[in-house]
Amino acid sequence: MRFEAFSRRAAVQRGDCLVIGAFERSELGVEASAVDRSLRGRVRRLLTRGDFSGRTGETLLLPEVPGLACGRLLLVGLGTKAQFNRRGWRRALQSAIGALARTRIASAAIALERPGARELDDYYFGRCTADIVGASLYRINDLKTGRRARPPVLTRVLLGPVDAAAIADVRRGLAAGAAATESARLLRDLGNLPANICTPRYLAARARELERSYRRRLRVRVFDEAAIRRLKMGCLLAVTRGSAEPPRFIVLEYRGARRSRPPVVLVGKGVTFDTGGISLKDPPAMDEMKFDMCGAATVLAAIDFAARSELKINLVGLVPTCENMPDGRAVKPGDIVTSASGQTVEILNTDAEGRLILCDALNYARRYKPEAVVDFATLTGACIIALGNHHSGVMANDDALARELIEAGVRTDDRAWQLPLTEDYGEQLRSNFADMANIAGREGGAITAAAFLGKFTQGLSWAHMDIAGSAWTGGAAKGATGRPLSLVSDFLTRRAARSRP
Ligand code: BES
Ligand code: MN
Ligand code: ZN
Repeated sequence: MRFEAFSRRAAVQRGDCLVIGAFERSELGVEASAVDRSLRGRVRRLLTRGDFSGRTGETLLLPEVPGLACGRLLLVGLGTKAQFNRRGWRRALQSAIGALARTRIASAAIALERPGARELDDYYFGRCTADIVGASLYRINDLKTGRRARPPVLTRVLLGPVDAAAIADVRRGLAAGAAATESARLLRDLGNLPANICTPRYLAARARELERSYRRRLRVRVFDEAAIRRLKMGCLLAVTRGSAEPPRFIVLEYRGARRSRPPVVLVGKGVTFDTGGISLKDPPAMDEMKFDMCGAATVLAAIDFAARSELKINLVGLVPTCENMPDGRAVKPGDIVTSASGQTVEILNTDAEGRLILCDALNYARRYKPEAVVDFATLTGACIIALGNHHSGVMANDDALARELIEAGVRTDDRAWQLPLTEDYGEQLRSNFADMANIAGREGGAITAAAFLGKFTQGLSWAHMDIAGSAWTGGAAKGATGRPLSLVSDFLTRRAARSRP
């Protein structure tokens, strides 16, 4: 996909189709009015006939518009003018792209009304446009054998007209959004693959592929089970015990800044299938536990984004990955294991496995003396109960880091919300037999999971993102959402700019 911004009004006719917006009650905004004038009032006449209500997201494609050089006009509803905001703009743009994707239109000029600059400045206007276009054009790489739906042919989006003074910022935003969109596709493809294909070894192979693509700046190391044992990662080894698929620990090191600058470390939960183990899950929707590696996919995609954008930052990705299966050799409730940090853990519920593989990876992060550590995990059903699907959960031992992540989510419409991580929650993990238990009862389950991780991140600047509710959707639209890549990519872009040498 190519994204361009233009400043001259005449350029709106450079594509195969011009996209403009109309409000309810036949009101036109600035751009649509200009187009209407050049078409001698044709758009207004159409609206007064009542064929188009202007409700948010409504679309009408006009194939042959006399006077319009590009031939086709797509009209998109923007809702009422008084209530038009960023949310309405996003929905209108999504449906416009949806409508274009059903046609043979290869290039479109988008001249929709823009939300106010207070809601969306020039850079994020470009950034979010590319994000939305990319996400709306994503198609699941399915394994259906019947007749294939024709893939969308849209490959070029022209955005404008933009003030000449703003165009550089819009272009920078478009470039960042275009890169994020590519990386989000990697994340969604990995999430959507079934667990019999997307195994720990498969994730390692995809990490190696990244290394080949970005050879100059990216180094990848893959630890197999014997090497994991040498690292003394007893918690990861406990989770993988019941599985016939071998585990992996994947380390990706991206160098975009001078060697002396401490890296940001990203850690991702890579449980390629979570049956619950001996604490077996209920059958309904168990297939969705193939998405339990979306944290790992977020890390691979974030590294892909940094390398693709050549961010001036040092970045490390850590991916502990295995399956969680029941078996005669599987870890049992009550078993006590020793983590890489040396702390002992009583595994009271084998379905609380994410925190076990993460704690060993978080401990590994220490050797980098990192500037910040952020982990991503589809960690708890409790987080979905607390926040639903709209916000990812953020818990941290460094409130400034949590705020940075949350603000990146606000700027990119990939929202996150902080839950309190006070010491009280950690105390709930007390065990009679080991340094801690891996669960603490139903109440505050998202936070006690984070508190468990907190026992391995003392002295680090650390935040945990629970993406159980945001990383995929169930039901008819089942599939990976690509979240929280928009948030993470913006967070990294800002970090890179913050302390450039
Ligand atoms: N992968 C699950 C969390 C999950 C559950 C994500 C449902 C999305 C939907 C995780 O490994 C898990 O099983 N967590 C348990 C923890 C409990 C045993 C303390 C949970 O949330 O039920
Ligand atoms: Mn589980
Ligand atoms: Zn899990």
